Amino acid sequence: MAFDNLLLDRDDAVATITINRPKVLNALNAPTLDELRRAILELKADAGVRAVIVTGAGEKSFVAGADINELAVQTPTGGREHALAGQHVFDLVENMGKPVIAAINGYALGGGCELAMACTLRIAADTARLGQPEIALGIIPGYAGTQRLPRLVGKGRAMEIILTGAPITADEAQRIGLVNRVVPAGELMAESKKLAAQLAASAPIPMRYIINAINRGVEMPFADACQYEATLFGLVASTEDMREGTKAFLEKRKPTFTGS
Ligand code: COA
Repeated sequence: MAFDNLLLDRDDAVATITINRPKVLNALNAPTLDELRRAILELKADAGVRAVIVTGAGEKSFVAGADINELAVQTPTGGREHALAGQHVFDLVENMGKPVIAAINGYALGGGCELAMACTLRIAADTARLGQPEIALGIIPGYAGTQRLPRLVGKGRAMEIILTGAPITADEAQRIGLVNRVVPAGELMAESKKLAAQLAASAPIPMRYIINAINRGVEMPFADACQYEATLFGLVASTEDMREGTKAFLEKRKPTFTGS
């Protein structure tokens, strides 16, 4: 796959997508969003890929939001389509069925924070800044920021972050649950790769079901979500990896998962 605005690297079962528009702090314009959509679909279909890292080129920014040059000229109907297209791409990230780690190497603002929130896990450099500054542009978040942020950090904190537009530090983001871990900037990629490799070595079918059960379950009434979980729990009993995992434990050895 050839991309103008993304770099795609592969190291065994871990793929790394780097948003690569450093001159504009990796702002997401329409072609970049579309390339991200294509990359996610390709990596989803590739059974050899077990975990994905998303990061930004350069040291300053993960993604500094949607491209403001495009926002400045959008029409009402175009704006709606633009938001829906971005939401669609981020839904693909959230539901690709493989763990996606946002390695937040700097500014994750607006669409950048929304992209990070769509990822399965978030590791931030201690230099990172996260926020939803749309209010300062006279707009509102459009890639599901008003929805994913309260689900991650609670309504009160989401209100404050989106209404003030003020970015928060990586430490503050970790304190409120917006990122999972904060690491020294120089260790961000190594730590992200280590976590990705660990997840990539796990059995992929339960990995997919866990992501699915959590993503879908939090949107359902509790009793329905538990029924859903039980169905997936039963379904994994059909896999070789369940047999291997339980057998290996009883035989006091490490399991070898095959993905079947
Ligand atoms: N869209 C388009 N261009 C952007 C951009 C965006 N979201 N964010 C940054 N850029 C561009 C700047 O216009 C600048 O271009 P120039 O070199 O041609 O002047 C370049 O990236 C570098 O940004 P600059 O503002 O000079 O860097 P800084 O270190 O002073 O500030 C930020 C960094 C992130 C605080 C600042 O760029 C910013 O506030 N960006 C917009 C963030 C935002 O509102 N995102 C939400 C969009 S919905």
